[in-house]
Amino acid sequence: MRRLFPDPVEEVDPLEAYGDVTGPWLRVGMVLSVDGSVTDEEGWSDGLGGEADMRVFRTLRALADAILVGAATVRTGRLGPARLRPALRRYRETRGRPGPAPIVVVTRTAALDWSAPLFTRAETPTIVVTSRAAAAAVPDPIRVIAVGEGADGLDLAEAVARLRGDLGLAHLLCEGGPALTTSLLRAGLVDELCLNVAPALIGGAHHTRLLGDLDARVDLALRQICADDGVLFLRYRVRSRRSGR
Ligand SMILES: NC(=O)c1ccc[n+]([C@@H]2O[C@H](COP(=O)([O-])OP(=O)(O)OC[C@H]3O[C@@H](n4cnc5c(N)ncnc54)[C@H](OP(=O)(O)O)[C@@H]3O)[C@@H](O)[C@H]2O)c1
Repeated sequence: MRRLFPDPVEEVDPLEAYGDVTGPWLRVGMVLSVDGSVTDEEGWSDGLGGEADMRVFRTLRALADAILVGAATVRTGRLGPARLRPALRRYRETRGRPGPAPIVVVTRTAALDWSAPLFTRAETPTIVVTSRAAAAAVPDPIRVIAVGEGADGLDLAEAVARLRGDLGLAHLLCEGGPALTTSLLRAGLVDELCLNVAPALIGGAHHTRLLGDLDARVDLALRQICADDGVLFLRYRVRSRRSGR
């Protein structure tokens, strides 16, 4: 991929372009069309950005300690267990993180298909974050993190603190969907947005917006622009949330 900003570089490895994060970090990584849809004609995201997007998608996963996803994304039935390409597996091994990062499903209801490969066949076992009330609905041996609930849903600050404090999962990647990403932004927990803009217009019929309702404007700082095969890769640091409107 080419880096266009801040310092132009003709050929940059995605690991280098995204690998400068240390310590606790919460990164959102999502793909969207030029007209802002996070889903394609099939209601899924893989068809939006092609192989260039998938390269960065795999890289962000390899760099993370855990991968957060919302329950509705899991209910599409298209999210399988995380896998690692050999080069990325070696990359993680040399950093003391063998195997893929665990997927962490965030669900208030815990109404999920527990027989799905995501829960039964993951190399690194999938973790579930849910409410204390719903935790009993999660079958053994799935690892559950039960947290409190507030007006905005689950206490995501508690969930993030538990993932970091109890399990040592410091660098979290949220892959969406929009509802979970919005909740994390509302809770002020997001450090960075990595948005991959695919060269496509989806239009109204299949359009899913990147975000739901934010309670306050969030200011961003542009950190990096890369490009590969027509996809634009934007990195934004979350600067601040303004007071509620
Ligand atoms: N373009 C991309 O990069 C990308 C990435 C991922 C997904 N997608 C697309 O996005 C769509 C799904 O997104 P979505 O916005 O509908 O749903 P989502 O964010 O995947 O999941 C929403 C669900 O997550 C749980 N959740 C989220 N925030 C919560 C909170 N604060 N407290 C408690 N639970 C919370 C709830 O689960 P319960 O219902 O169990 O309570 C909620 O119904 C799919 O079409 C998928 O293809 C696109």
